[in-house]
Amino acid sequence: MKRRRLQLTKGHRLTLYAFSLILLLSGAAWAWMHRLDEAGGTNDAWRNLKPWLLRIHGLGAPFFVLLVGTLLPGHVRRSWHASKNRANGAFFLTTIALLTLSGYALYYLGDEEWRRFTSQFHLWLGLGAPLLLLAHVLIGRRATRARDS
Ligand code: HEM
Ligand code: HEM
Repeated sequence: MKRRRLQLTKGHRLTLYAFSLILLLSGAAWAWMHRLDEAGGTNDAWRNLKPWLLRIHGLGAPFFVLLVGTLLPGHVRRSWHASKNRANGAFFLTTIALLTLSGYALYYLGDEEWRRFTSQFHLWLGLGAPLLLLAHVLIGRRATRARDS
């Protein structure tokens, strides 16, 4: 199969990167401000920003999931059938599913301990996700270039 058929279109790729960046920046900035807030190191202006960051994050999340869904019939299915980058792709998809489920759980978890655990799990997995995406792209490109069929 031609390599081009396994790749994302430029528009698709840029939209995906843009939404990933929105989620990463809004999530990381919220976590950073939250820590400062808990340590008593913020003022009202900063504190008022926090809910806005989560609103942006919470709005970006369904669009991101929608985008990932649009990759399934093309990029994921074709690469899977061509046996290119399968293990890495499945691992990356699982990471996204765990981020989505833990993000959803954050809305409804009442128990304080579980909420704290889920919040940390979601944050650290999210902070690690860009590295996983980078590895996915680099390893995937190597796989398709190895024998460009
Ligand atoms: C089982 C699932 C998946 C498989 C088998 C797979 C396979 C691949 C392969 C073979 C490549 C290299 C294409 C090339 O030659 O440039 C690649 C690149 C890429 N993949 Fe995946 N992938 C999977 C899931 C995903 C998911 C869930 C995302 C995003 C949320 C994603 C995003 C990308 C991106 C952005 C690239 C770089 C593409 C480019 O440069 O055009 N993949 N993947
Ligand atoms: C890209 C890296 C990501 C980072 C660094 C990140 C970080 C965070 C943080 C710090 C929170 C607040 C935690 C708390 O309330 O204790 C949060 C909430 C949330 N995240 Fe993420 N996240 C990321 C990706 C995602 C993804 C991919 C999704 C789903 C597609 C997602 C969905 C959510 C949802 C639904 C919430 C709850 C929002 C709210 O309470 O209003 N996140 N995230």
